[in-house]
Amino acid sequence: MLAHKIVVLTDLHFLTQGNTILAMDPAERLSAAIRKINATVPDAAHVIITGDLTHLGEDDAYVRLRAVLRDISAPVTLTVGNHDRREVFLAHFPEVAKDENGFIQSVIDIGGYRLIVLDTLDDSGAGSQAISSGYLCERRLGFLEQALRSADGRPAIIFMHHPPHKVGFVGMDRIRLRNGEAFYELISGFPNVKQIICGHVHRSISGVHNGITFAIFKSTVDQQPFDFSLTDTKLSIKEAGEFGVLLLSEHGVVVQAEDF
Ligand SMILES: [Fe+2]
Repeated sequence: MLAHKIVVLTDLHFLTQGNTILAMDPAERLSAAIRKINATVPDAAHVIITGDLTHLGEDDAYVRLRAVLRDISAPVTLTVGNHDRREVFLAHFPEVAKDENGFIQSVIDIGGYRLIVLDTLDDSGAGSQAISSGYLCERRLGFLEQALRSADGRPAIIFMHHPPHKVGFVGMDRIRLRNGEAFYELISGFPNVKQIICGHVHRSISGVHNGITFAIFKSTVDQQPFDFSLTDTKLSIKEAGEFGVLLLSEHGVVVQAEDF
């Protein structure tokens, strides 16, 4: 099977120098992930990072992230999550791929596939941002529609921070993409959408929703406790971090998840 390998990282939660999450330095955690990726997936065609690049969106956190990312040799595409601040991120990553409206959205064509990276950071109002849910406004949904329409039937994989549907954790389900119905209604018109990849939950989860396969990977730092009834979305535990590897071939998509 000749396959193109796409590495996925998510929820890096970078902090300023000296600050930690459960006694872990997010920069050290990403470095550990990159060491294993470079050793085990040296032929990665692309690396995609699906948001929560930083924990609090400070300048220094993005500066530190930029420094660590230099250890990745493959092209890297980033997008933001609810913990990021888009304007601060853009100040430190001015060359990043953006759509015509300035959202951190882009299209990558690899191995006959169309990879679509979406920006679900909700800046529509203080109320929604305060509870950390995600949102795709009309302009962002318009970008997605255009990316799918111009794919010429190529199979598409959509990458975004917030899951567009419930995954079973009471608290995290409340802060999912809050207009997931509109998202699914749009993609229902495009049978070439084969896979959705997300972060946000800090847990390995996969399955099928409305007939479309999805996978969610763990954070490189702290993880969501495995308790379906948990309503507090701030609780986290220390266990292995994870990265994903997608193997794209003419037969379909294989999704691997590896601890480090
Ligand atoms: Fe996160």
